[in-house]
Amino acid sequence: MRRVSWAVVVLAALGVIAAGGHQLPSAFSNATGEARTLAPAAIDTGNAFFQPLGANGRACGTCHLPSDGWSLTPATAQRLFDASDGRHPLFRPRDGANAPNLPDTTTAERRAAHSLLLTRGVIRVGLPIPPDADFTLEGVDDPYGFASAKELSLYRRPLPSTNLAFLSSVMWDGRESRTGGSIAAHLAQQATGATDGHAQGAVLSDEQRQAIVAFERSLVTTQSRDALADDLGAAGAHGGPQALAEQAFFPGINSSREPGGFNRRVFSLFGDWAQAAGAFAAARQAVARGEQIFNTHAFAGGNFTCTTCHNAPNAGSNSLGKMFDLGLGAESRRPPDVPLYTLRCVRAGQASPSGRVVRTTDPGAALVTGRCDDIGRFKVPTLRGLAARAPYFHNGSAATLDDVVTFYDTRFAIRLTPGERADLVAFLRAL
Ligand code: HEC
Ligand code: HEC
Repeated sequence: MRRVSWAVVVLAALGVIAAGGHQLPSAFSNATGEARTLAPAAIDTGNAFFQPLGANGRACGTCHLPSDGWSLTPATAQRLFDASDGRHPLFRPRDGANAPNLPDTTTAERRAAHSLLLTRGVIRVGLPIPPDADFTLEGVDDPYGFASAKELSLYRRPLPSTNLAFLSSVMWDGRESRTGGSIAAHLAQQATGATDGHAQGAVLSDEQRQAIVAFERSLVTTQSRDALADDLGAAGAHGGPQALAEQAFFPGINSSREPGGFNRRVFSLFGDWAQAAGAFAAARQAVARGEQIFNTHAFAGGNFTCTTCHNAPNAGSNSLGKMFDLGLGAESRRPPDVPLYTLRCVRAGQASPSGRVVRTTDPGAALVTGRCDDIGRFKVPTLRGLAARAPYFHNGSAATLDDVVTFYDTRFAIRLTPGERADLVAFLRAL
């Protein structure tokens, strides 16, 4: 009974459950407007996705909330902590806490133990150095005294469990899609793993697994109204979830693998707003200019645009499932409250001479492939519904979309003008 009542508490606390009803509204407001989810059937809290799956009271919906763009924001984590004195099922030592070994008897201890979840909305993912890896773990500097080669502590944002039709790899490091096969099969495998991991040993029935995967795959989410530009599907624009639901995608779309090759004009949603008139003219023109910058503004010696990596049309994922190291886990960017790992390459890779030493907060795809070349590489997330799910990047290091743009501007020395930066942010907000 306790578990059921917690589920109701969560949903009631978030204001998403109508008295006596079990259908979630499809639109949720956020800091800069409103996001909308399209689902063939009404979003039904009776689906196994929202049901506690194991003894620890966790559901998929505990970390993938419709109100948070199907991710989880720090504001929600704080609200749940305050409403439950830190006893809500989200706060579990195994992966909700900074480490499983921290004291959590008093409220103050629980708050300290879950500081990363409360401030950056990250969940602890524990992964080992693979046995056949081209690198060894030479050193661990863990403020929580827990991590080792057997289990590195990695703190990662819940990826949105929506817009899954645009995925070509599953999880930040691709670990659920390493083998060949369909994304549907990888998602089924992912659901099994998530249940075992986050719900600590619970086992899904085939029926539950099918219901969960069918449910999450049916969801399409985007920002639908912007506080400044208003209706994102108005006046010739193609924002909003309906157009995305009709968007084509297949692995390799808009890449060199296709006869037509790669076209850098990946987003074609707001072109008509270049000449917008009327009440929202200024804001709409900014969104249109931002789309243009995202598609065509070249940097890094003219070799890159944002769309070089974010190449899936109107979705922004990478259609080939390519992974990149943006340097987010570098020692120079390490906040003092996460562990730093020292890796030494013992076998040379294409880009990694033997003996190379790397310090990082998260080796990313290298923990899946075992290859030195993959250290720090992460997948390219889908860019729709961004406004609902701050903070950004795998480690939640960019608190706002403005911070995302600042990161890229610095990292790639793009030298955007203040006007260009504002336009790019206006565009990202509208996705
Ligand atoms: C404790 C929080 C938590 C719970 C509970 C949880 N997830 Fe997740 N989910 C995450 C995190 C964190 C990631 C990213 C982890 C990574 O990439 O290493 C993730 C990733 C995913 C992804 C990958 C999306 C992508 O773009 O690759 C899917 C799909 C997903 N979860 C679905 C589910 C389902 C289905 C359930 C229930 C069976 C579930 N999650 C339960 C936190 C959670
Ligand atoms: C070299 C490839 C590459 C280029 C170029 C690139 N991105 Fe990314 N982008 C990525 C990868 C990889 C991630 C995930 C990185 C991580 O979290 O470790 C990402 C993440 C993001 C995110 C965060 C998404 C989320 O859910 O957290 C945004 C927003 C974004 N990129 C926007 C841009 C913009 C704007 C540009 C152009 C200025 C750009 N990207 C250029 C590869 C790239």
